[in-house]
Amino acid sequence: MKAFNRIGIVLAALIALISCASAPKEPAEIPGLKDVYKDAFKIGAAVSSFEVSGRNPEYEALILKHFNSLTPGNELKPESLHPRPDVWNWERADRYVDFAKEHGMFTMGHTLCWHNQTPEFFWNDEKGNPKSHDELVETLRSYIETVCTHFKGRVDAWDVINEIVSEQGGYRDKGWVHAFGGEEYGDEIVKTVFRFAEQYAPDTELYYNEFNVWRPSKLEGVLHIVKMLKEEGIRIDGVGIQAHWGLNYPKNQYVVDAIEKIAALGVKVMITEIDIDVLPLTREGQVIGQVMSDPQFQLEEFKEYLDPYRDGLPPEVEKQLADRYEELFKIFYDHRDVIDRVTFWGVQDGGSWKNGYPVPGRTNYPLLFRRDLTPHDAFFRVAAIPKNKK
Ligand code: GLA
Repeated sequence: MKAFNRIGIVLAALIALISCASAPKEPAEIPGLKDVYKDAFKIGAAVSSFEVSGRNPEYEALILKHFNSLTPGNELKPESLHPRPDVWNWERADRYVDFAKEHGMFTMGHTLCWHNQTPEFFWNDEKGNPKSHDELVETLRSYIETVCTHFKGRVDAWDVINEIVSEQGGYRDKGWVHAFGGEEYGDEIVKTVFRFAEQYAPDTELYYNEFNVWRPSKLEGVLHIVKMLKEEGIRIDGVGIQAHWGLNYPKNQYVVDAIEKIAALGVKVMITEIDIDVLPLTREGQVIGQVMSDPQFQLEEFKEYLDPYRDGLPPEVEKQLADRYEELFKIFYDHRDVIDRVTFWGVQDGGSWKNGYPVPGRTNYPLLFRRDLTPHDAFFRVAAIPKNKK
């Protein structure tokens, strides 16, 4: 009888434990991530103006609860602000900026100079002929002047240049670099753009933002930019390390090295654009991406293999996601003296670009909030770090 009782109690306790662990938490039990990390760094998210347009109060409440910094997903990119020579669009961008400012959030401008999402007329004249060197400089100057003046006093920091460094540590022969004449113009472009940003956005922090910064050869290129600007007396306040990473990459030591080497140059470090890809064959996301977007991989026979979690994330992958977020945030928290902000590229899984890239039409789970806005286990692991490490 006694033994039966004991087994009963143990069983009841086990059931209670299991149901407690899996019971959805009430919103009141969920801490605000920005509050948990308030003594460490800002917590940001990239949003679209649509997401902060008042259409979905529940969603906006979630944003306001967890984040104290916002980055515009697309609204402040050249193709959005200035799609044609005679057209400027400010409405959506202003909506994003107004929302962020109204709620006292650190408001990012993203991005002034990039090879992507920039219309061809920035580089070619109206007849389609390549612009001259002086015309390109003037295009940069007038664009930066117009945009920085429009947002004066309303944007706290600009990603001045995005993704200009190649994987080998030189300059990518694309966009502005290509238009100016190739890699050897990279240093000049970087200096010119940061000088204009300093001139037209004097009260705004100025950052360089890049992906795959963990890769040692690429890190060298980023460090070169910071050193060069400092030597020339041109202001740069920080470097954003984009974190479009996966369950198994990059190696943590590379992340640590990148944070420490950038910080050693005396600029702020930001972890920008974090999302953790849980799907197969995206180990080197950006590179494999070009191959995987080939139509042959959208064929039926690949669907099951490439898109395995359409009906939900299996518990073992939920755990891997939690483990990965936890180990990364431990690194970030240990470097909180030099990290100024950690920004997620999106708020909830359904809104992530990782559902469409590098393979279109998949179901991915890269963020801390699920499609129904409930937190992943990863959220609770991340939220527990500051308390446990004190
Ligand atoms: C890059 C850019 C972002 C965004 C993401 C993918 O990393 O910096 O603006 O386009 O890719 O969505």
